[in-house]
Amino acid sequence: MTTSAHPPADAAPATGAAANANGAASNGALLDVRQLVKYFPVTRGAIIRRRVGWVRAVDDVSFSISAGETLGLVGESGCGKTTTGNAVMQLEPPTSGEVVFEGRNLLKLDPSERRKARRRMQMIFQDPYGSLNPRMSVGKIIEEPMYVHRLHASRKERRDRVRELLELVGLSPWHAARYPHEFSGGQRQRIAAARSLAVEPSFIVCDEPVSALDVSIQAQIINLLRGLQDRLGVAYLFIAHDLKVVRHISNRIAVMYLGKIVELAGSDGLYDRPLHPYTRALLSAVPVADPEIETRRKRIILPGDVPSPVNPPSACRFHPRCPWAQARCADEEPKLTAVDGGRQVACHFWREIEDSGGVPPVAPSEALRAG
Ligand SMILES: Nc1ncnc2c1ncn2[C@@H]1O[C@H](COP(=O)(O)OP(=O)(O)O)[C@@H](O)[C@H]1O
Ligand code: SF4
Ligand SMILES: [Mg+2]
Repeated sequence: MTTSAHPPADAAPATGAAANANGAASNGALLDVRQLVKYFPVTRGAIIRRRVGWVRAVDDVSFSISAGETLGLVGESGCGKTTTGNAVMQLEPPTSGEVVFEGRNLLKLDPSERRKARRRMQMIFQDPYGSLNPRMSVGKIIEEPMYVHRLHASRKERRDRVRELLELVGLSPWHAARYPHEFSGGQRQRIAAARSLAVEPSFIVCDEPVSALDVSIQAQIINLLRGLQDRLGVAYLFIAHDLKVVRHISNRIAVMYLGKIVELAGSDGLYDRPLHPYTRALLSAVPVADPEIETRRKRIILPGDVPSPVNPPSACRFHPRCPWAQARCADEEPKLTAVDGGRQVACHFWREIEDSGGVPPVAPSEALRAG
């Protein structure tokens, strides 16, 4: 399988209607992502490579983020979270769609304007060691983006700023002379945060920033990111595969399944009243502190694995695994639709499922599972 930097014209999605129904934050948003699509070509052949299909990694995704807000993006591994973050950051050119950041559509800017706009968008990755140059001192690592973007005229100003940033992320000014390998995973994530803040961004994509850290350290880094948000007003797209991790940092949460957002709601609303069957299943696996509620809860076990995004199931992509699936689900795609309280859900039967108490009926029929 290889990728191409030039997405072909025939890769446009068949869908698109649900685009701009973003609930709370669509107008005047810091970031407005509209009908974002990213397909990767699947190729075969050793000498002459032929395209034999597409990996539909992100397929018609729309959301917006306000200044100072955190949108959590959750879903199982492979559902398209990183590809969404990369496409928003323009690290991977989107196949189609719009990314409007601070009022400008990044896809329509020329390279130098895009570079300027990109300064205000930064990224923190899952693996802080892999993303920090091991041959550079921490001071140089944090100083480099300021130098590239010509943010502080003199070297002294940049050095002073490095010291300030180290203190801001809970490290000491003398750490500037050290190298990445001398730090723990949590400290390296603090260095990554300092480097991203060096260029005074208004938005940071945090792609699983705590997934590689010990549980005890995860809370420290999440608290650090929250504290930085309170002080600096930066907005986050906070990506995680685990619903536990996103709850306390997110204002709103988008749940992804196989390249699509299936539910988008305020953080508390999503946890207290999940509407989409997939969200219900994910949440049923998250332990609850109250032992009484915990013993009464029913775990929803989904049959099978996540299907391949190369040949996703028809209509509702979740239908082969959904305990509530009906014939309509395999024929007609449920659009992400605004429902009460400004939240959105993509399921034909969310209301009936809620009215029936959310207890799964029998397993989906074999015909539906076959997709
Ligand atoms: N460069 C690429 N070329 C081909 N397929 C890719 C590429 N990057 C990601 N994919 C595929 O796109 C899908 C989504 O991947 P990704 O966005 O990394 O998911 P997540 O971050 O949710 O785990 C996966 O099936 C993955 O294999
Ligand atoms: S549309 Fe049908 S298959 Fe899809 S989540 Fe809703 S009930 Fe399940
Ligand atoms: Mg990922």
